[in-house]
Amino acid sequence: MDLSPGVLILCSLICSVAGQVPAVSIEPRVAAVRQGESVSFRCQVTNGGQRVQLEWRRANNQPLLDNVKIGPDGSVLTVANAQPGNQGQYRCTAVSSAGSNSANVMLNVKYSPKIQLTPAGPLQVRVGDPVSVECRATGRPRPTVAWQRQGSTLQLVTEETNDVNTLKWAAIRPEDSGVYICQAGNNVGVSEAKVEIIVGRLLGAPVASVNTAEMTVTEGQSVTMECQASGFPAPEISWSKLRAPLPWKHSVADGVLTLTDVGRQDSGQYICNATNIHGYSEAYTQMEVETPPYATCLPDQVRLRPGDALVVQCLAHGSHPISFTWTRVGRASLPAGAEATMEGKLLIARVKQSDGGAYKCVATNHIGSSEALAKVIIKA
Ligand SMILES: *[C@@H]1O[C@H](CO)[C@@H](O)[C@H](O)[C@H]1NC(C)=O
Repeated sequence: MDLSPGVLILCSLICSVAGQVPAVSIEPRVAAVRQGESVSFRCQVTNGGQRVQLEWRRANNQPLLDNVKIGPDGSVLTVANAQPGNQGQYRCTAVSSAGSNSANVMLNVKYSPKIQLTPAGPLQVRVGDPVSVECRATGRPRPTVAWQRQGSTLQLVTEETNDVNTLKWAAIRPEDSGVYICQAGNNVGVSEAKVEIIVGRLLGAPVASVNTAEMTVTEGQSVTMECQASGFPAPEISWSKLRAPLPWKHSVADGVLTLTDVGRQDSGQYICNATNIHGYSEAYTQMEVETPPYATCLPDQVRLRPGDALVVQCLAHGSHPISFTWTRVGRASLPAGAEATMEGKLLIARVKQSDGGAYKCVATNHIGSSEALAKVIIKA
């Protein structure tokens, strides 16, 4: 009996009728699943009766993968989270003292295409160079593969052999510079991969680019700025801030600058610098951090005699434009003769005894608002 690893042998005890070779069948006969799905096959002994041993293995004698399990009585084979490598025929063999019989079952595992581009790019080439990029697509069912240029829906004419679809130029021209996309699809899914081809630029010198040239964010947010650079050898990417150190709550990984909990003082220009032995290249991101207003009254308390002039200025920090409104606490309107200016001033030319009390200024911008109180005391 074969006890090699990967082959699971389990015995099932049935009553004993000597001399009959067991007959075997499997349900279902064929199964097709998508990658990640599960499936079970049941091996049935129809005229056994003897002491029968059931044995599952792959028809090609390869070991069963780790995600293939056999149930306690040996009859059920389960493939959990099916993978492309589970594809193939499985064989159930029933053995008794009278002889053995087996049946085969086919498992098809469908999966969405996977693409590999060779070379992966970006490619820097000289005018007139021969250039070719191979797109190797695997998938089940076998995917259809096509190349197109970014920004165009035209399918490019390519060379096709087996699973490889090759984009090819005998002599490349400057106008061929661009991003090319290989797309592969089947009835499970679609994948694509891109390659950038740069014709005629100085070979190897870095070219840096950022994902956004300008951004406006709100105080307290986290911000990421991405920088990419072509060039060979692969350039080192560093970030700095124009005329200031980087905010202390920052980190840089893989060319991505992350700022957490940004404040108004973090506004400014951020510079990505890509450097290699051939030179360096800079790219810029301008960030504005917007803040809600913070209002104060100047003065916040004032003592006057009847007939004096009242002047209170409402001041606010925060992103512009800021608008101001004055109200009187506990009253529907400002006293007759009071004036509130666009710049946040509250004016009463000659105060009366009845004008005493609390006045409220509300400063508002498009992010939020803030209020401040001024107390006016009138004493004869
Ligand atoms: C970028 O790097 C180059 C070379 O290291 C250096 O000369 C240049 O000043 C750097 N630019 C900034 C903004 O740091």
